[in-house]
Amino acid sequence: MQDLELSSAEASAMVDAVMTHITQAIDAVGNGPVDTSSRADAEYLARMVEAPPEAGSPLAPLLDKLFGDYATRSLDPTSPGFMGYVPGGGIFHAAVADLIADTLNRYVGVSAVAGAYVQIENNVLRWFCEIVGFGAESGGYLTSGGSLANWGAIVAAREARLDGDLARGVIYASDQAHHCVAKAARLAGIPPGNVRVLGSDAAFRLQPEVVRSAVNEDLRAGLRPFLLVASAGTTNTGAVDPLAALAEVADECDLWFHVDGAYGGFFQLTERGRLALAGLSLADSVALDPHKTLFLPYGTGALLVRQRQTLRHAHATTADYLPPPSAEEAVPDFSDLSPELTRPFRGLRVWLPLKMHGFGVFRAYLDEKLDLARWLAAELQRMPEVEVLAPPELSILAFALRAPDIEAANARTRAVLAAVNAGNRVMLTGTMLRGRFVIRVAVVSYRTHQQHLQLLVEDLHEAMVDMQL
Ligand SMILES: Cc1ncc(COP(=O)(O)O)c(C=O)c1O
Repeated sequence: MQDLELSSAEASAMVDAVMTHITQAIDAVGNGPVDTSSRADAEYLARMVEAPPEAGSPLAPLLDKLFGDYATRSLDPTSPGFMGYVPGGGIFHAAVADLIADTLNRYVGVSAVAGAYVQIENNVLRWFCEIVGFGAESGGYLTSGGSLANWGAIVAAREARLDGDLARGVIYASDQAHHCVAKAARLAGIPPGNVRVLGSDAAFRLQPEVVRSAVNEDLRAGLRPFLLVASAGTTNTGAVDPLAALAEVADECDLWFHVDGAYGGFFQLTERGRLALAGLSLADSVALDPHKTLFLPYGTGALLVRQRQTLRHAHATTADYLPPPSAEEAVPDFSDLSPELTRPFRGLRVWLPLKMHGFGVFRAYLDEKLDLARWLAAELQRMPEVEVLAPPELSILAFALRAPDIEAANARTRAVLAAVNAGNRVMLTGTMLRGRFVIRVAVVSYRTHQQHLQLLVEDLHEAMVDMQL
């Protein structure tokens, strides 16, 4: 029988072997195609089905596959040319932090057993609360991503406002809100018919009077409006809802005010971001996604609440086999504030890069993304064939090709998108905006710089010339 306990020499050898591949992968980022024409097809995937291994096999061929064939048969969201969806560059420091956290494997669900590590995660959450503008009563927890942060907000709001009357509870969000909001509502037990999808304005923002009239209608119908979800940067166009005005309506209508800042929230670190997100501090809860705009690898989101007591109210339970809960003012037991008991030490992958570089570096990178999106919008606006339908409020923009009618414009825009992506130097995605097919550009990766946007502009020009536009 092989020993599961590795000697320190064996552990080092394992990490060294992995490191050889990692250094090659890091050196190769940006030199290869963003996407491959030979993605794993059904036949390939069928060949990958494996029986449970009874005996072990050597590491080297496993690593060869993981860093070789499998990696090259995929879309590369770590590439600087990846500007589709919401990119995820994934800074390496966080991977190292995960190695440390997983090696130590301390228990961070309750503070009594590993208080210092819990305090590290608590520090991260306090920093985030400060960024958002929350006060001393605030708190939160780290999640695996924005979807679960939004779900957690709905659960907290539901517990604070509905007294168990889920059937009559109503949620308000715009037609531009991320689809995870409706999904989260369903998972939180709110009937799907009680999620009001409200029309946004010409700039894709939710206007307060639309909320006000929808709430009044539901009140007349005997329902219980309890939650307003605003977007601090939509996925489609990066639009930021008028947060201060929506906070006012939420207050007036007695709604919990949640802001989905999964994409845009961390722009609050920048001066321009703070202007765009004015009113964020008035929220009852905010979802952030460090795996988007703090450039971390996938698997880290955050839910912050103005009153951490609301999280405790929603989650705290006791059990005879657990240590007594920590006092309210002490380092928190995350198990009392969140759905998980045993949990990975997510805080370290945020803390380590922030301690090593300071927020200043992240602020500078985010400022660069704002500059790049503005530069690109100006370039696009100079092209007579192009219409910028959503100029960047933050670092996402959307444009389409002009044509005599919508059908033709949509077909032309789709063709240009396909041609640009076929160049494989950049990767963009499209979306629908009120019947118009548009190309989105999401400048979010820390690796994306001016020269990569230059490639995008070149490839766009080339596509339009080829199509004789
Ligand atoms: C605005 C917004 N909210 C929520 C989400 C969902 O976040 P996650 O994919 O981390 O679950 C996304 C993802 O792109 C998003 O852009």
